[in-house]
Amino acid sequence: MDLNQQVRSYWEQGPCGTDKGIVGELEPLSLEWFEQIEAHRYAVEPFIHSAVQFTRHHGKTMLEVGVGAGTDHLQWARAGCVCHGVDLTEAAIETTRARFALYGLQSALQRFDAETLPYADATFDLVYSWGVIHHSEDPARIIAEIHRVLKPGGRFIGMIYGRRSPAVFKLWARYGLLRGRPWRSFADIVWHHMESIGTKSYTPAETSGLLGAFRSCAIRPIMTSYDLASWPAWIGRLFPERWGWFITFDAAK
Ligand SMILES: C[S@@+](CC[C@H](N)C(=O)[O-])C[C@H]1O[C@@H](n2cnc3c(N)ncnc32)[C@H](O)[C@@H]1O
Repeated sequence: MDLNQQVRSYWEQGPCGTDKGIVGELEPLSLEWFEQIEAHRYAVEPFIHSAVQFTRHHGKTMLEVGVGAGTDHLQWARAGCVCHGVDLTEAAIETTRARFALYGLQSALQRFDAETLPYADATFDLVYSWGVIHHSEDPARIIAEIHRVLKPGGRFIGMIYGRRSPAVFKLWARYGLLRGRPWRSFADIVWHHMESIGTKSYTPAETSGLLGAFRSCAIRPIMTSYDLASWPAWIGRLFPERWGWFITFDAAK
């Protein structure tokens, strides 16, 4: 099985943010289920709104790469964008379709591996992708595709995982140190133990390199609740923002 088939089978088990620990016994695809997913997402990742600023992009034609359960996709639609979305899995596309139908919103959704996007050159004003590209076999290829489908001056906004972060350190302590294999690199730990197999992780400088084809790019790592959980608060306060697990970016073509 090639890597993206393995990635797909992992995420077909359920889009991220929909597990029982979050939704409990709520009826899947019901309004209550979706509202709980949304409430939980912005409680644990409140910075998404300031990092992305959905409503600033009112009226734009946008594509989301890796819609997952469609929580952010809903914000793009509510912000008055003309929405298109792809995801590697049927589970994500069907969940997002059901969600949009329930809220009476529109999006052109397709199951597609974003390493080859089914759109003409210069189609979109904006492409958004939050926590997706690092899962794919060839992230650089997805970025080249995103660059191609963006109009000149169009924006690519998103997030990929940072490697030198407390979140990854904790994973290393668990799967490297405590298993008697402290020599395992952070990159190897993320590859094998962060969600689907083959997950990549980056430094801010590597992120900048990955987005090198863009005319300009602002990069901002964010210290997340996942980084800060399980340390005393005073230790967490010593962590510089640049160690944040989420590396957000806003690039212009
Ligand atoms: C961690 S989830 C993030 C989903 C959503 N963006 C969010 O923030 O909740 C990763 C998603 O990326 C999708 N994905 C992974 N590789 C992909 C690819 N090559 N093309 C399209 N989607 C992909 C997975 O199917 C999964 O839905």
